[in-house]
Amino acid sequence: MKDRFFDQEWKRSSYCGNIPAAAGEGVGVTLNGWLRRRRDLGGIIFIELWDHTGTVQVVLGPEMGKLYEQAKGLRNEFVLAIKGKVRKRPPGTENPAMATGDREVLAEDFIVLSPSKPLPFEITEADGVDENLRLRSRYLDLRRGSMQDNLRLRSRAAEFTRSFLAGEGFIEVETPMLTKSTPEGARDYLVPARVTPGRFFALPQSPQIFKQILMVGGIDRYYQIVKCFRDEDLRADRQPEFTQIDVEMGFITEEDIMALMEGLMKGLFQSVLGDCLEVPFPVLPWHDAIDRFGSDRPDLRIEGEVQDLDECFRECTFEVFLKTLEGGGVVRGLRVPGGASLSRKEMSDLEARSRELGASGLAFFSLREAVLKGPLVKHLSNGAQALLVERTGLKEGDALAVAAGPWKKTCEVLGQLRLEIGARFFPRREGAWHFLWVTDFPLLEWDDEELRWTAVHHPFTSPNLQDLEKLESDPGQVRSRAYDLVLNGTEIGGGSIRIHDPSLQRRVFEVMGFTPERARERFGFLIDALASGTPPHGGIAIGFDRLVMFLAGVHSIRDVIAFPKTQKAQCLMSGAPNIVDPGQLAELHISLVPNGKDPGCSSGDGE
Ligand code: AMO
Repeated sequence: MKDRFFDQEWKRSSYCGNIPAAAGEGVGVTLNGWLRRRRDLGGIIFIELWDHTGTVQVVLGPEMGKLYEQAKGLRNEFVLAIKGKVRKRPPGTENPAMATGDREVLAEDFIVLSPSKPLPFEITEADGVDENLRLRSRYLDLRRGSMQDNLRLRSRAAEFTRSFLAGEGFIEVETPMLTKSTPEGARDYLVPARVTPGRFFALPQSPQIFKQILMVGGIDRYYQIVKCFRDEDLRADRQPEFTQIDVEMGFITEEDIMALMEGLMKGLFQSVLGDCLEVPFPVLPWHDAIDRFGSDRPDLRIEGEVQDLDECFRECTFEVFLKTLEGGGVVRGLRVPGGASLSRKEMSDLEARSRELGASGLAFFSLREAVLKGPLVKHLSNGAQALLVERTGLKEGDALAVAAGPWKKTCEVLGQLRLEIGARFFPRREGAWHFLWVTDFPLLEWDDEELRWTAVHHPFTSPNLQDLEKLESDPGQVRSRAYDLVLNGTEIGGGSIRIHDPSLQRRVFEVMGFTPERARERFGFLIDALASGTPPHGGIAIGFDRLVMFLAGVHSIRDVIAFPKTQKAQCLMSGAPNIVDPGQLAELHISLVPNGKDPGCSSGDGE
């Protein structure tokens, strides 16, 4: 027997999922792949051989002699090269669930390219395998069909994005990973700089400052599919390192970015899913989004809106509501279609939930036999009751949940209840994809911990020029030129027109409590750049992982990332982050402050 190594002769002639159709009876093939399943029927062995294109059945019989004996030792996930002939499966043995189920390969020869130790879990599509186990052996998990599909879809989406943006005149420019902090509202991941002891790089939370400087540099149309790093609390749609489709353009206004992104989304959904999106997307100013949906990322799949009931309660005799209105607060309601069927227990659970969310309470009304019912009805005149029914469109069998308090909080609580009970009570709007733009965000918000104004987006976002005179006198009332792209209740992108005037940028830093020295120390290079001939410019970043989650129809961001981190920001496969050699720390002039915890005692249990 000649050498049994993997050489030219053993290279695949076709993929498992594409072996010639039954018509190709008798055709010789060479297959390379993983043994997914082996059935030994005593006298004949069936193997399912898998590669990323699919699976094919291979038959090994005793006529193979020594090889047949060797085949008895093959185990799941061994890597094999097999030679054989294609044949139709005998009638009655076809497997319609398998794409290649009408044919099989009668093996003539094979070699084991690589064995596999016993597996910690079976590689199947069935749910139920603990995610930590999957993440610990991600190389096995990646062999599942759904992970294969997700990563291939992700790659197609990136490829489409690149060619779309190139077609629009954009160039991809790489910006540094070892850089200075760019504030996007999270903590930085720091990297010690060995050659300048005591100094640290920050990994970018986004390429924000560099992409603006590219505009000053005359690049005009920049994009990058880029990793960003944020040390923040993780959720199902957040990762400490994630990917953005990052875009910046010179000499533009909001409309240009919106039209560009609508074109990109339309093309992507068409090319990846074959779905036709309607553009332009609806636009909703932030104030209306909060007022009508209690959220700056409304889920428009669900019908039903928060309603303004101030007028209905202005003359009521219920002290709590009256005081709220007198104090500048609001009364808001949420009509729950068919909600009169809510039991007392369900209503009190919703009330408890509203308190948990920050409301001071929740009152219920219902319309039964054309009569308005509820504990607060006695506090309303007949006229006010009629107005309430008319305003809310309350119908027979509906309930109305009412809350009073500060405007934003009250709307948000009802907006959250709308989401939580939406599936049960509210009709769904037609169509799978509900995009919208949320615009006119406030520029600044008061930070109770830092006791200063902070940027809602980032400090480089331009104020709405009509509000400029309020910048120092009433900062909370200044609108920004920021916009978010929302899809089905998730923020998938955000951007803004930037400040291109260095003196305005200095003013905004000052309102945010930066002394001129501190602003210069942190952002001096940007201010200098802005003072060196800067075009009006703006941009956006789309959360690429989140977008791919939608395209793939999955609910966890980890399912569209090859090697994701857990909720505790750990990589269970590699064990990162890990302790480092004391010598390495000494070289970096770093000494650790003992905190009583052994940094090396990670259980590897990341969730
Ligand atoms: P922003 O901070 O809004 O804007 O981020 C843009 C988009 O990135 C996604 N995203 C995340 N995805 C996964 N994990 C995370 N931890 C995470 N954080 C954000 C979201 C979000 O909408 N420099 C600005 C953009 C600009 O102004 O042009 C920025 O980064 O989908």
